[in-house]
Amino acid sequence: MPPRRRQTPPRDPVHHPLFARFYARASTTAETLGAVAALRRELLHGVSGRVIEIGAGNGLNFAHYPRAVSEVVAVEPEPTLRRLAAAAASRAEVPVDLVPAAAEALPVKSEAFDAAVASLVLCTVRDLPRSLSELHRVLRPDAELRFLEHGLAPGPGMAALQRGLDRTVWPLLFGGCHTARDPLAAVEAAGFRIVSQRSFRLPERGPALPTSYCVIGSARRLP
Ligand SMILES: C[S@@+](CC[C@H](N)C(=O)[O-])C[C@H]1O[C@@H](n2cnc3c(N)ncnc32)[C@H](O)[C@@H]1O
Repeated sequence: MPPRRRQTPPRDPVHHPLFARFYARASTTAETLGAVAALRRELLHGVSGRVIEIGAGNGLNFAHYPRAVSEVVAVEPEPTLRRLAAAAASRAEVPVDLVPAAAEALPVKSEAFDAAVASLVLCTVRDLPRSLSELHRVLRPDAELRFLEHGLAPGPGMAALQRGLDRTVWPLLFGGCHTARDPLAAVEAAGFRIVSQRSFRLPERGPALPTSYCVIGSARRLP
C-alpha cells in the first residue's frame, strides 16, 4: 500500500462559527426587510457563462443568477456558512459548485471565467490586493467583475470612526470585516476598469452605520 500523504491543514483557516450563525440570521432578515434581495438581483442581472463568486457566505446570491449562467464556482472558506451555502446550491436553478477555498488563492485555472462576483466580501478578505489579483488572473480578458460592497464614508467624521473601529473591535466582532476599505480604488488598482457604479446608503433612512456606505456596479478586466 502506498504511504498515506499527510493532509496539512491551512495554517490559519477562516473559522468564525459565532459570526457565521449571526450572519446566517441577519442576512436572511435583511433580504426582505432591508431590501437586499433586490440589490442581489440588480448585481446579477445579465450575467452569463461561467461565473466565479468569492466568499459566497450562506449562498443568498444563488437564487438570483440568471439562467444564462452555465455554472457558478462558489468559493467559501468558512465551514458553517459553506454548509448553509450547500443547501442553497441544491435549490438554485443554475449549477453551483461549492469550493472550500479563500479568495487569496483560488484553486482554478487562469482565464477560465466569463464573470466574477464579489458581494459584501472585499471588506473581509485578509489580503485585498491579492484577492483582486486572483480574480484578475481567473477572468478572461474583458470579462466582468460585479460588485456590491460597503466601504469608506465620504465624510471625515465617519471615516475616522471607521478607521478606529477597524483597528480595534470591528474585525473581531464581525468575522474579519473592515469598514474603511475603498473597494473601487482597490478594484481599479488590480487592473480593472470601472464601467458602472451606484453609491447608496444602506439602510436608506435612519442613522448611518459604519457599514452604510455602499456601492454596486461592474468593472472590466483589463488585458
Ligand atoms: C459578510 S459575508 C458575505 C457573504 C455573501 N457574499 C453575501 O453576499 O451574503 C463575508 C463572507 O466572506 C467570507 N470570507 C472570509 N474570508 C474570506 C477569504 N479570505 N476569502 C473568501 N471569502 C472569505 C466569509 O466566510 C463570509 O462568507
